[in-house]
Amino acid sequence: MCGIVGYAGKNQAAPVILEGLAKLEYRGYDSAGMAVVNGDKIQITKSVGRLKVLEELTHGGATMPGTVGIGHTRWATHGAPSDANSHPHYNAQETIAVVHNGIIENYLPLKEKLVSKGYQFTSDTDTEVVAQLMDYYYKGNPLEAIIKVMHRVQGSYALGIVFADHPDEVFAVRKDSPLITGQNEEGCFIASDVPAILKYTRKVFFIENQEIVHLKADGMHFYTIDEEEIEKEPVTIEWDADAAEKGGYEHFMLKEMYEQPKTVTDTLMPRLKNNDIVIDELNMSDEDIRAIKKIHIVACGSAYHTGVTAKYVIEGIARIPVEVDVASEFRYRNPILEEGAMVVVISQSGETADTLAALRESQALGYKVLGIVNVVGSSIAREADNVMYTWAGPEIAVATTKAYSAQLIALYLLALKFARVRGKLDDKTFHEMIEDLKRLPGQIEMLLSNKERIQRFANRYVAAKDVFFIGRGIDYAISMEGSLKLKEISYIHSEAYAAGELKHGTISLIEEGTLVAAVATQDTLFQKTLSNMVEVKARGAFVLAVTNEGNTDIEKAADYVIYIPKTNSYFTNSLAIIPLQLFGYYVAVGKGCDVDKPRNLAKSVTVE
Ligand code: AGP
Repeated sequence: MCGIVGYAGKNQAAPVILEGLAKLEYRGYDSAGMAVVNGDKIQITKSVGRLKVLEELTHGGATMPGTVGIGHTRWATHGAPSDANSHPHYNAQETIAVVHNGIIENYLPLKEKLVSKGYQFTSDTDTEVVAQLMDYYYKGNPLEAIIKVMHRVQGSYALGIVFADHPDEVFAVRKDSPLITGQNEEGCFIASDVPAILKYTRKVFFIENQEIVHLKADGMHFYTIDEEEIEKEPVTIEWDADAAEKGGYEHFMLKEMYEQPKTVTDTLMPRLKNNDIVIDELNMSDEDIRAIKKIHIVACGSAYHTGVTAKYVIEGIARIPVEVDVASEFRYRNPILEEGAMVVVISQSGETADTLAALRESQALGYKVLGIVNVVGSSIAREADNVMYTWAGPEIAVATTKAYSAQLIALYLLALKFARVRGKLDDKTFHEMIEDLKRLPGQIEMLLSNKERIQRFANRYVAAKDVFFIGRGIDYAISMEGSLKLKEISYIHSEAYAAGELKHGTISLIEEGTLVAAVATQDTLFQKTLSNMVEVKARGAFVLAVTNEGNTDIEKAADYVIYIPKTNSYFTNSLAIIPLQLFGYYVAVGKGCDVDKPRNLAKSVTVE
């Protein structure tokens, strides 16, 4: 996600900001920029590309004199990477500049209102709306204008703001997106994360939601949204710089697992409006949706596993036939796409060669392609006819977790939208399912809090040679992902099997002590999976079961049980995968593997 750095002090601001942004590069970005206050003017330099471009443009900051400024590295969410879409954004007179991390959910209606009042926009971003709205409310008092903006915008934001007629000051605001401040004898700092200012101070202030910070060279003041000044206690950071990039987590993978509640929220909430599902980026009318005869989903790896899940969910509630392919097969099997077919490709990176090829093959056959993508401006995002972003932020660990969870949410929303439009869901059921989706972030958080118990169990299997994951229906799809998570980072052989298929050969591999993880979240299939657990247990397996709270019958057949909170049976993947992610992670950690960069793997497989 984006990175913010701000400074008000005795030294030149630009070099401090550039150095701070460099410490935030791990967050992933596609463009960078700075605004420095010089006299009564704000100088702005910004460009698409790496920080190096900004450093060269400003000769290391030398072309931007001044001791007060803000800087930004942008991870695109609204508006592809470009110079114009880079931050800072500013008002027409360039007397207010803003940098932003987060998503303004209601930026379109705000933009329309500002345009109707004569404002002109130069970018496609949600952030520029904040800059123009700040201008609209600004009458000389920054705090007053900021508070008015806070009351109007919805969504998540960490903002850094400078005003030309307050040349010695920086303001910052936080709602949902992280923001910290710090101070030393050289000045005061704001940043999205600790690494940016750790060089200057280990005493940082973590800004809480809807708090405002007012920085000057010699000190900081904190306010609430009610304009009350408050005192805050600093926190002393014990981490070293490397650990700080991971937010104190040992690995990016663990950090990203813990970001899943926010990932799910960020992908879900902007698409729930007036108790309905609004997916503008689909560019499909209700008539188009009713005309769909079949959906082809094409992807690789974990993205393919979300596609398998989507087959069960879409066919289950929207009653549209779904065919799922791994992209490397689809692209060479001379696919038959029917009249009225819709193609959906899923890709976190948006650069997977096989998936991109499948997209092009489908378009060559005359079909429009919807891309479900995480990286804005990636090849698949650019070439798809329509794109539904997963807004998970940059995923650094090779083994996907938060992007996977966001893909599931995007697919649930599609399924619900299609079912609703095609009259397959009554109001009551539809709204109950929406409420179930809204509960997922908190339920994921609760499951993540069980990590010590999972870690203790995982430590027993660091020497395992073969691990099997079994399930039926959606539980089979969950098993696929649980198996991949384990094997790709711990290098332990593992495979997922349709539980009913095991007896057709593979059960011969079950020996005394073989670990079999049985996923049993589908109530209609519970008894069937239970009997499969008995089958493998009779042959010596140690059975780990993942099932819904209340299914205590399972303890007759399982040696170790992980319960997940109740949710709609179509959404259980979002919960059951959490303990399986943690299991794979802790086995790999127990083996001393390079969890974030497993051998032989790349984060984006851009070759065949
Ligand atoms: C998942 O943990 C793996 N890193 C891998 O299977 C990945 O899901 C696959 O390569 C697809 O990547 P994409 O989503 O970027 O297209």
